[in-house]
Amino acid sequence: MGTENPPRILVLHGPNLNMLGQREPEIYGRTTLADIDVGLMTLGRELGVAVETFQSNHEGELVSKIQSARDRCAALIINAGAYTHTSVALVDAILAVGLPVVEVHLSNLYKREPFRHHSYIARAAVGQICGFGAESYFLGLRAAVGVIKKA
Ligand code: DQA
Repeated sequence: MGTENPPRILVLHGPNLNMLGQREPEIYGRTTLADIDVGLMTLGRELGVAVETFQSNHEGELVSKIQSARDRCAALIINAGAYTHTSVALVDAILAVGLPVVEVHLSNLYKREPFRHHSYIARAAVGQICGFGAESYFLGLRAAVGVIKKA
């Protein structure tokens, strides 16, 4: 992929992910969200894509951000946090923009409480990566770049 106008990938972080590093570190690890964002931008440069990141604790802001990606981005990476398990609005926004989505989670949802086993996002995603801590995001970015290259 050329460096002139690299494809743009939007990475969305949902509620409470701004507290990574302090929040239940035995589940989510000690890496901060700022560390993850810097790592994603660095890896993005290596892979020939521009990475944009956005975190919000508000469902409507995440919906608006997904809508704004429609004509600007080639793919989305989403960790919707707890909205994963509740939000019809987020999956509708993803379906509306029609961009390929990679769903990521730090923790392995399927080892946790049953209410975390269902994801509304999954039905609109190309695939899901969970359980690798911060590395889930980097695997997700590699997956998203693979999807873009194939398209
Ligand atoms: C999470 C898993 C969700 O169940 C939880 O509500 C989160 C984080 C994860 O990355 O493991 O906030 O999405």
